[in-house]
Amino acid sequence: MTNGGDSRSGVVAATPAVVQGKTILLIVGGGIAAFKALELVRELRRAGARVTPVLTENGARFVTALSLGALAEARVRTSLWDLEDEASMGHIQLSRSADLIVVCPATADLMARAATGQANDLASTLLLATDTPVLMVPAMNVRMWLHPATQRNVAQLRGDGVTVLDPDEGDMACGEFGPGRLSAVPAIMAAIAENLLPARLREELVGFSVAQDRTPPAPPASGRGELKGRHALVTAGPTHEAIDPVRYIGNHSSGKQGFAIAAALAAAGARVTLIAGPVALPTPPGVTRIDVTSARDMAAAVDAALPVDVAIMVAAVADWRVETAGSKIKKGSGGPPALHLTENPDILASVASGANRPRLVIGFAAETGNLIAQATAKLARKRADWIIANDVSQGVFGADANHVHLVSAAGAEDWGAASKAEVAARLVQRIADAL
Ligand code: CTP
Repeated sequence: MTNGGDSRSGVVAATPAVVQGKTILLIVGGGIAAFKALELVRELRRAGARVTPVLTENGARFVTALSLGALAEARVRTSLWDLEDEASMGHIQLSRSADLIVVCPATADLMARAATGQANDLASTLLLATDTPVLMVPAMNVRMWLHPATQRNVAQLRGDGVTVLDPDEGDMACGEFGPGRLSAVPAIMAAIAENLLPARLREELVGFSVAQDRTPPAPPASGRGELKGRHALVTAGPTHEAIDPVRYIGNHSSGKQGFAIAAALAAAGARVTLIAGPVALPTPPGVTRIDVTSARDMAAAVDAALPVDVAIMVAAVADWRVETAGSKIKKGSGGPPALHLTENPDILASVASGANRPRLVIGFAAETGNLIAQATAKLARKRADWIIANDVSQGVFGADANHVHLVSAAGAEDWGAASKAEVAARLVQRIADAL
């Protein structure tokens, strides 16, 4: 994985260096996504990490110890009862000899056993015996992921200090659609790099980690202070456009990137007004949050928050609204109703062209093709200073990782694959430099 550009943002530029020379104990669970563990091993080796592979009995149904060992250039451990292992390196020592334990794919069963402290095979015993940080990368059927039992186990693991990535959303091998797909390998690499950083540095550089939906830690008492005295406005999340009292038009935006930016701005000392569409995320410390539902509500809230020094429009605002019916539309003999769409106000464009224009106006562009060309056109059309462009065909919605380009009049910069918290930290540094 490579990341170009400015090295001052720390985490992003440090990503390959932080992995180099580290030992990753990789537990490969049993699932169709196990084949992606092979790709992960290749990336880890390329980044200069040592990989100690552990293959569960079910994992071995999907990938062979031979291919895993060949790519890792290391012996694959499979059994707790391997006496030779016990003689040369017991499971206690094995579990503690690594800098990080990565479980990929983490199956529902493996997470359930880890959450309840079971030790009935090598993988679960290693997880119980270790004091090394653990990163789990789940992959499973959408219903299994959403089941209250799995969600309970994930919450328990997170409470125990394990980093559990949220799976990606999309078409699944089993033919269903939803969250449950293994995160993309660059996102896993970014999470590994983040988990290898010393805790102090991670807090300082990343601030509010969106890798886990936990209550974020309070920002350092002193703050970093680069944006002290500045007022920043952030929009985040989707908007919902009511069709009738029970239905709406919406989109897949999770709000994670916008919330991470608001958190990083507050940690840098800015006064932050966060205008959030309907999302279930905790409010970052030190941020004033205004919840809205529709695009028109969001436009009004933005207008009321002006003037500000910088506006960052991360929200996925619905382009169209419907003429809302006053009561629930019932199925009738006339067939499905036609929805008459009206264009919503473009909040970013009106802020950028308005009398109260902030010194810095930043928009986001979610595209599914021709990324840079589309973002450059958007920059001009909306009169923004910068557009942060991302390709949403790669499953960005709801994920913890992002691969963005900063597009400005000076051209396009590729920021490489990074966590949303890293993107936020880097953007805030650039804002501080520009203001
Ligand atoms: N945006 C906005 N108000 C809207 C639509 C979009 O403020 N009504 C902002 C978004 O917050 C984002 C940027 O404009 O910062 C780009 O949004 P995007 O949905 O990618 O662009 P659109 O203008 O909707 O163009 P298109 O969908 O045609 O690509």
